[in-house]
Amino acid sequence: MSEVVVVGSANVDHRLLVSEFPAPGQTVKAVEFDMGPGGKGANQAVAAARAGAKTQMIASIGADIAGQSLRQVLSQAGIDIAKVQIQAGTPTGAAYVMVNSAGENSIIVAAGANSALATADLATLQSGDYVLLQLEIPLPLVEEAIFKAHSRQAKVVVNVSPADDRMKPFLGLIDVLIVNELELGQVAELIDLPVAEVEIADIAKAVAGKLGNTVVCTLGPKGALLVAGDELLAVDAPKVPAVDTTGAGDTFAGYLVAGLAANVPIADALARAVTAGAIAVTKPGAIEAIPFAADVDRMIAGG
Ligand code: RIB
Repeated sequence: MSEVVVVGSANVDHRLLVSEFPAPGQTVKAVEFDMGPGGKGANQAVAAARAGAKTQMIASIGADIAGQSLRQVLSQAGIDIAKVQIQAGTPTGAAYVMVNSAGENSIIVAAGANSALATADLATLQSGDYVLLQLEIPLPLVEEAIFKAHSRQAKVVVNVSPADDRMKPFLGLIDVLIVNELELGQVAELIDLPVAEVEIADIAKAVAGKLGNTVVCTLGPKGALLVAGDELLAVDAPKVPAVDTTGAGDTFAGYLVAGLAANVPIADALARAVTAGAIAVTKPGAIEAIPFAADVDRMIAGG
């Protein structure tokens, strides 16, 4: 089986449940507060591992309790953490996640040790392995990882989140682009494609056509769509009560890449990823909410 190597962020998430997001200048009281493991990279690595993929993570954390606890969480998920770097004197990345009563979130990320991730050692990468990246680590490193992965005939999957205009020069080197609706529009505009009054599926087709890659767009409670060449696949999401959407997109990405690495037919990989993302929104937190493969099987079977 091909390996999934996630090069990305690891954060401690400070989660504040609020009735409503504060307006500028307003103070609101949190209904609930807790802390837990997160970060787009760590979330995606755990999702890939829980989906059954052999998973390795390259990340950077601080020499602090948050970093220690993240190492433990990743390792307990069965992820190879030998290349997780520990930075003395720099705190582990932190995210401040506000969740409202509709389960929607608003996040501020302080990169901390994530910004010290200086190099990605991809020497063990084999042809057919998958490198999964997001944009919460320094962009030059994302670029370096993409080039290294290509030189080893590995597949490159980038979740363009949070979107960054500076990635324009290497968009064409990405095999699979994972975006949400907003990020899809941002990518389309970056490569000079029209977005105003254009249907999401048509934007995805235009982006995939211009970049010559596979484009996957998550649609929240509406599921996801995928465009590869002339093929357009759309999968509806199961209806679930939304408690907290934090990390649902990461769960989707990790599950999707695990499916691709296991050579599962793309429609099945997409359906499993959508189901996994839907389960994740029914629970609070990021990593704590990521389902195991058996949970996904059960929901697909109608349980
Ligand atoms: O995608 C969700 C993640 O974004 C959170 O876990 C938080 O750490 C931020 O990185």
